[in-house]
Amino acid sequence: MPRLPPSLFWRARREISPLAAQLLPACRDLESAANELRWIREHVQDTKSAIPNTLRVWKLVDKRARGVPLQYVLGTQPFGDLEIKCRPGVLIPRPETEAYTLYLASILSHSQPPTHSLSILDLCTGTGCIPLLLLHSLLTNPSTRDIPIHIHGVDISPHAVALARENQAHNTAVLHHLPPPSSSGVRYTLDFTQQDIFSPAFVPNFLLQDLRPKGPALDLLVSNPPYISPRDFATATARAVRNYEPRLALVPGHQRHHLSSDGSSPENEEDEEFGQRYGCRPEDIFYTRLREVAAALRPRRVLVEVGGWEQAQRVVGLFLGGGGSGSGDDAGGNYEVEIWRDEPAAGDRGEKVEIAGREVAVRGVGKGRAVYLCNDDV
Ligand SMILES: C[S@@+](CC[C@H](N)C(=O)[O-])C[C@H]1O[C@@H](n2cnc3c(N)ncnc32)[C@H](O)[C@@H]1O
Repeated sequence: MPRLPPSLFWRARREISPLAAQLLPACRDLESAANELRWIREHVQDTKSAIPNTLRVWKLVDKRARGVPLQYVLGTQPFGDLEIKCRPGVLIPRPETEAYTLYLASILSHSQPPTHSLSILDLCTGTGCIPLLLLHSLLTNPSTRDIPIHIHGVDISPHAVALARENQAHNTAVLHHLPPPSSSGVRYTLDFTQQDIFSPAFVPNFLLQDLRPKGPALDLLVSNPPYISPRDFATATARAVRNYEPRLALVPGHQRHHLSSDGSSPENEEDEEFGQRYGCRPEDIFYTRLREVAAALRPRRVLVEVGGWEQAQRVVGLFLGGGGSGSGDDAGGNYEVEIWRDEPAAGDRGEKVEIAGREVAVRGVGKGRAVYLCNDDV
């Protein structure tokens, strides 16, 4: 990262405020420093405290200047029309996730017969941002607002599950962005539970407890799982992310003991070695599991976030049966497959690629961001 010239600090002091100069190393340019200072001041003005406002602004600027992400400093991040509470220990929702969630909601709304109900499972839910925004979009779209909607979010982290529930309450009872589930004319359920998706009991429990809402099929399995390799986390991940966001949310790893097929504990193995043993790279481990879950639950649609074009291609190959643990199931064989870029709604250029002998449509602009599978005959 290039060093900032002293003249920029003088300009920040002179043209904005000494506090903006303090924010510069974290914000990197004058415009961002000015914006962030304004948001910090607005946040302090809008929230009550016994501590004087000037001192509170100073403390928050100091925190941000030390590199703490703005979302942890302010405690929230806008996500579509919603406001998502953020806390250290739970991943901050990203704009790319927001973009495909909105696009996914528009697909669900347009392809839904009016009498049908919708059931959605979000694995690795974190703050609950994906199910909350899907629900909000479906409830505000005339094609889906009157049908029963059932959504279930799952995360291994108790902090994430607690925050997801808080976010549900925050956007319902406090901000009124979502109607309460019991309000007249509205029929939806939204639940969050703490579970390890690698646990052998995960799928049987899911089916047994009938968490899957009534109806012949699950409409959507969605997941933004950890997908960064230990090596990329150490060398290519931004310092602010490495220092302040949870590794559990970013790097597959601790789930290893569930994956040991011969009973031995691979806990001490190198991640690379372990990935090979499971038949994939360490950063792809979650997709192998998500493919197994999809094969068991047979959702109509699957959407998994990925970390770039290379991973998108590997994940398509995996779902089409060309990789992973080689269980021989048919997770993706009858599905239409697409790769979505960062902004999937931006201009269809008719782009296509061939993967594992199949033609795969590529939507939008930007980096490879998600793999989408659809089979309306399920
Ligand atoms: C990349 S974050 C995604 C969070 C959120 N869905 C989003 O898009 O902002 C991945 C999430 O997976 C959760 N996770 C990690 N291992 C898990 C496991 N074995 N079972 C369920 N959730 C897991 C982490 O706690 C984290 O919240």
